[in-house]
Order: sequence, then C-alpha cells, then structure tokens
Amino acid sequence: MPKGKVAVITGASRGIGRSIALELAARGAVIVAVDMDQVSTDAVVAELQATGAKALAVVGNVTVTADVERMFETAVEAFGRVDILVNNAGITRDGMLMRMKDEDWDAVLSVNLKGAFLCTRAVFKVMSKQRSGRIINIASVVGQMGNAGQANYCASKAGLIGLTKSNAREMAKRSITVNAVAPGFIATAMTDALSDKVRAELAAQIPLERLGSADDIANAVVFLASESSGYITGHVLSVNGGMYM
Ligand code: NAI
Repeated sequence: MPKGKVAVITGASRGIGRSIALELAARGAVIVAVDMDQVSTDAVVAELQATGAKALAVVGNVTVTADVERMFETAVEAFGRVDILVNNAGITRDGMLMRMKDEDWDAVLSVNLKGAFLCTRAVFKVMSKQRSGRIINIASVVGQMGNAGQANYCASKAGLIGLTKSNAREMAKRSITVNAVAPGFIATAMTDALSDKVRAELAAQIPLERLGSADDIANAVVFLASESSGYITGHVLSVNGGMYM
C-alpha cells in the first residue's frame, strides 16, 4: 500500500479523480490535487483533510507547460518528492467526424494526450532522481474498441495507451512503472441523468450487468500505485465489467 507516498492526481476535484484521491489517501498517501479552479480544488482538499489525510491543492491547466512545471515544483517544495502520478484529467467534445470542428479535435487531444505528456515529462525529472515511481494513465475502453461520434476522444485515449507503453520502456531502467487503466461505462453525474431505460440498455452490453463505479477505477489505480505491482509495466488494465476483452 502507498503509505506516506506522495501522489499527484490531475482532474482531482470530482468524478473518478476525486475517488482516486480519496482511496489513495485512505491508504496513507499524501495527495496533491490538481484541477482547473480554486473553489472545487480547495473543496476536495478540505474533504481529504477532514479524513485526516495530508493534502494540497494546486490550481493549473495540464495543457500549459508553465502550469505543469509549477505543479511538480510545488509538490516537491511541500513534500520533498513525488512517488505517484495519476494522469486523470480528461474532456469530451463528441460529434460525428464529418461535422467535427478543428477546435473540438484540438481541445480533446490537448487535454487528454498532451496533458499526460507534459505531466509525465515533468515528473520524470523528479522520479528519475528518486529511481522509483508509479505513473498511471486513465485511458478508456473506447480507446481500445473505438466509438462512433467520439473520434477525437478515442484517438486521444488510444494515443495515451501508446504513450503508456513507450514511457514504460523508457523509464524502466529507473524503476519507474507506467501503466494505464481503461474504464468502461462508469456511473457519474452524467449517467445519473439518463433514464432507467437507457441505463438498462447500457448495462445489457456489459457481462457483469452493471455500470462501473468511480471506486472500481480507484481500486485498480491503488493496486497499480502499490508496492505489490512492481513487476507490472506497460500494461492496460481493463476495468469494464467484461464489455471489451
Ligand atoms: P469529470 O469531467 O467528472 O472530471 C474531469 C476533471 O478533469 C474535472 O474536474 C476537470 O475540471 C478536470 N480537467 C479538465 N480539463 C483539465 C485541464 N486542462 N487541466 C486540469 N484539469 C482538467 O470526468 P470523469 O468522468 O471523472 O473522468 C475522469 C477520467 O476518466 C477522464 O480522463 C475520462 O476520460 C476517463 N474516463 C471516464 C469514463 C466515465 O464513464 N466517466 C469512462 C472512461 C474513461
């Protein structure tokens, strides 16, 4: 378990990122929560601190190199090291390819893929000196199987899987592991808004007959962040209820 380890989590203020922060903190990790706005980032840090965890809010945009450099400088100034990076920040701008706007393509590739590249490059400087580290990229089942209406998002998540494997090869000699978690359909605020009928149709495509929870994803991240996973690198861990094998 990552007790006392310092974990930087991007997009930590809500959804899957928030669950990852809470689960890692529950196992004793120190959390650096990164997100775009002060109020929601402070709120998740207050929630973490209320559980007795050590946590720090850093407001920044993962697509901006200067912000990313500052995130890791701040983490090192506060806690002396970074043991775990979870590249979780992500967005969608869905639409059929024929009508997709340039800015929707660029925005999704920029946050989901370039953001992970910038954060990984910045944390590598820290982790390579430590000669240890865990990097976990949150991909998606649709990066593995494709999805109509999400060409930009699927390309970004398939790209993230390629980035994961390349970085795993480059960083292995420093004892840094790099893995991806590929969530399936996860129950979030967005899916709560769907009708029971639509939710039942989604669940019918899943062998385990239910949507996943943010905690299902967080538990997989905790494993990949732990000492127990030291011989696993370049792996894509599907957490999708069997919907894609
Ligand atoms: P969400 O939209 O609830 O949370 C994403 C967080 O990332 C937000 O707090 C947002 O402010 C932050 N963020 C967005 N752009 C950012 C930027 N440029 N810099 C810093 N932070 C930024 O999303 P959710 O559902 O929790 O998803 C988290 C990750 O899991 C994403 O990478 C998403 O693609 C992935 N995922 C989600 C699935 C789902 O069903 N919810 C399924 C498969 C993958």
